[in-house]
Amino acid sequence: MNFLTSLAFLFVFQLAVPNFSYAKDHQLFSGNEISADYDKMVSRIRAGDTLIFSNGQKFTVERILGHGYTTLILAIKEDPTKALRIPLNREEQSYTESYIRGYKMLAKAELPTVKVYESYGAEYVVVEKLTDYMTFADFANAASAPRLITWWRRISGRKSPLPLQEMEEKFYLFARLISLYDSIGDLNASNLIYDFKTQEWRLMDWTAELEPTSSEEENPMRNILRRLNLTGKRYEWLAQFIGNSREIIEQNRQRILSGKACAQSYAQ
Ligand SMILES: Nc1ncnc2c1ncn2[C@@H]1O[C@H](COP(=O)(O)OP(=O)(O)O)[C@@H](O)[C@H]1O
Ligand SMILES: [Mg+2]
Repeated sequence: MNFLTSLAFLFVFQLAVPNFSYAKDHQLFSGNEISADYDKMVSRIRAGDTLIFSNGQKFTVERILGHGYTTLILAIKEDPTKALRIPLNREEQSYTESYIRGYKMLAKAELPTVKVYESYGAEYVVVEKLTDYMTFADFANAASAPRLITWWRRISGRKSPLPLQEMEEKFYLFARLISLYDSIGDLNASNLIYDFKTQEWRLMDWTAELEPTSSEEENPMRNILRRLNLTGKRYEWLAQFIGNSREIIEQNRQRILSGKACAQSYAQ
């Protein structure tokens, strides 16, 4: 194909497929109903596309930030500090509302979470966009502290050292808080993150479930470790964590159970 033929080919191709590679509009919901084509639309979402909801709200996709089993999380052009959460598919619609109900419960209990700015029914939630964070899974499951530091430097390209000691100390505070509950919806090692900006452990994802602790007998450490799915690869940290925190957490629970304190007092 010479130059002119390729130019002609390109021209005809563009005419024949006018929207090829251009941004698309996806009317994901209308009249508070999820689109019959929702799953197909979601799988085709690309940067630059516009997502449209029943209330007329539109968001332009900057890029896809990630997804789990239930939700797709997108950076939006309208605001670089915010992220949009939408159901991953038709079957997972209920998680958006569960996320909002859970947020209210967690906020009341003063458990630290990412901020929620806005939501619309089962359609979308606008949350704070995290940019500089590490999951608890990465933090706790590295083979050793030096390996964690080397790995983090390599993937983040960061020159300043990982604030490991601070992250560990702050985890004790977080563990105290969650030890007050027998269950926190969807608490697991990937949904808990350390935010390097605010320097705190926070929940990134949750469901509407928050059961206060009910038993004096139960060992709170066992609960926390089970919920966080800690494999115990970082033996040195795990041993220290259990040794140092058990007593503090027990005291905390004793106070709660005896009605002398409420969960909120431990938020700071
Ligand atoms: N607020 C956020 N800011 C930036 N990225 C996020 C945010 N929330 C989630 N993500 C990204 O999306 C992924 C899946 O998020 P998650 O909320 O756990 O989804 P699911 O509800 O499906 O489990 C995360 O691992 C992370 O990469
Ligand atoms: Mg998740």
